Amino acid sequence: MTVSRVAIMSSIRWAFNTRQWEPTVTDWVRASQCVQPEEKQRIGKFVFKKDAKSSMIGRLMLRKMLHRVTKIPYGEIKLGRTDKGKPYLMNTLPEACRQLSFNVSHHGDSVVLAAETEAEVGIDVMKLETPVGAKSISDFFHTMRRQFTEDEWVYIKSGNTEKEQLGSFYRLWCLKESYVKALGVGIGFEVKRLNFITGGDLTHAGGTICTTTVEVDGQSAKNWTFEETLLDNHCIAVALKTPLCTTQKLKIAPFEVITFDDLLADSKPLSEPDQVYGEEFIQKAERPTLQR
Ligand code: COA
Ligand code: MG
Repeated sequence: MTVSRVAIMSSIRWAFNTRQWEPTVTDWVRASQCVQPEEKQRIGKFVFKKDAKSSMIGRLMLRKMLHRVTKIPYGEIKLGRTDKGKPYLMNTLPEACRQLSFNVSHHGDSVVLAAETEAEVGIDVMKLETPVGAKSISDFFHTMRRQFTEDEWVYIKSGNTEKEQLGSFYRLWCLKESYVKALGVGIGFEVKRLNFITGGDLTHAGGTICTTTVEVDGQSAKNWTFEETLLDNHCIAVALKTPLCTTQKLKIAPFEVITFDDLLADSKPLSEPDQVYGEEFIQKAERPTLQR
């Protein structure tokens, strides 16, 4: 197909709060009509409401962003997944946005998306909460010891309280995941090869900072930029890999909080309404909350 107009865009950052979203049967049916059948089926299999909601929002975010940026009619957008699971656009794009890169992440109460025309992008979000199933923080750190370098552990352990240490741990975790997700490699990449040198105080930044750098196998990786944000007790990292020849500095893109209505605003149903699918969602269990 031909795409006649391409929006001028370099960066999009969106965040959605799933805790504040309690979809009705009608909402869920409408949402399910806007995602591809295989995704609708995959989302239908989640046991807990929370997981289904997060994944659904991620898909709606992708479709809205792709429609907005590429101007491809909503119903014609076709997403595939690489063999490692990373979603990609199957439609052919004009030269102007051929470099479009995008990624979503969900954890806790947050679903986030980053899209870029000038860089490869990966995003990760983590809620700053006690890790599920951990006996204690030190026990948890022990099980994760192989994922971080000596210097990274020094940084984590330099926190005065367990809460501070956990905050630093999640900060590094998100950075590592965002890097791995930008490459699209998934499980199998040895994240200890990455040594993050955090710059700036994220807790008191009050916005997005991009002062952190990374060494890969001991070598400084100069073509990578990391945007870090704290949003509603969630830590977000966006990894941006620019071509080595690029001299242009990327602008920091702040997060825009979007709603379900925003997500559906330009949507078009891809399938007939499925009432049973909506009712099955309402029957799903709430995930047990963690008390500590
Ligand atoms: N690369 C990039 N993005 C991917 C991906 C991949 N290989 N596979 C899936 N995604 C996208 C999808 O949109 C997915 O959401 P969906 O399935 O609902 O569509 C979303 O990213 C999942 O990201 P997130 O919510 O952050 O989940 P996660 O942190 O559990 O998973 C993966 C991220 C997919 C990369 C993860 O499975 C993984 O492989 N991690 C290993 C890296 C590691 O060792 N980390 C330790 C850090 S200390
Ligand atoms: Mg993640």
